[in-house]
Amino acid sequence: MLSYIIIIIIAYLLGNISTSYIVAKRLTGVDIRTQGSGNAGSTNVLRTLGKKAGAMTFLGDVLKGIMAVVIAQIIAKLAGIDVVTAGYVAVVGVVSGHNWPAFLGFRGGKGVATSLGAMIAVNPIIALICFGIFLLIVATTKYVSLASVLGISISPIIMIFIQNKKGIFVTLFLAISVIYTHRENLKRLIKGTERKIGQNKQ
Ligand code: G3P
Repeated sequence: MLSYIIIIIIAYLLGNISTSYIVAKRLTGVDIRTQGSGNAGSTNVLRTLGKKAGAMTFLGDVLKGIMAVVIAQIIAKLAGIDVVTAGYVAVVGVVSGHNWPAFLGFRGGKGVATSLGAMIAVNPIIALICFGIFLLIVATTKYVSLASVLGISISPIIMIFIQNKKGIFVTLFLAISVIYTHRENLKRLIKGTERKIGQNKQ
């Protein structure tokens, strides 16, 4: 049990390292949460600081998710606990740390790139299917938020289909989190006022 607690704490702390916050502060000195949509994520960095900064943020958040799981797997091997469960615990920890970072006043991002990275490390095929769906929806609708919600929400359905019990719980957590963090985007999508990619209007 202690090993799982250590894993979730490390993953949560890693999640607190907000790439968008760091990139925006370094490039312009401003808090990304005061710009554009106010979200500490790669879409908002892309929107306010351009493609290069957006790509850096996306990569940083994906890598953070991967790292949290890899560290958990190393700890699991050293402690002799289940590696798969440890990975899933890290997914929950790192995404929670990204979305609700104690070191940034619990105002973080929406967890999309971090969820992708963490899921790549625990279940790459499912992660890539979800990412493919995400890319398809972005390409056809230009709504990153819609693509994020649908791309992640499909993951528990896939887990149910392949009967991965632990995976169902973790991906349900990811799906509920992504719907919750996108609640304002969903309201705007319904009203028809959601920003499309490439549309910089605030
Ligand atoms: O990953 C976040 C994205 O789905 C929406 O971001 O800035 O448009 O709220 P934003």
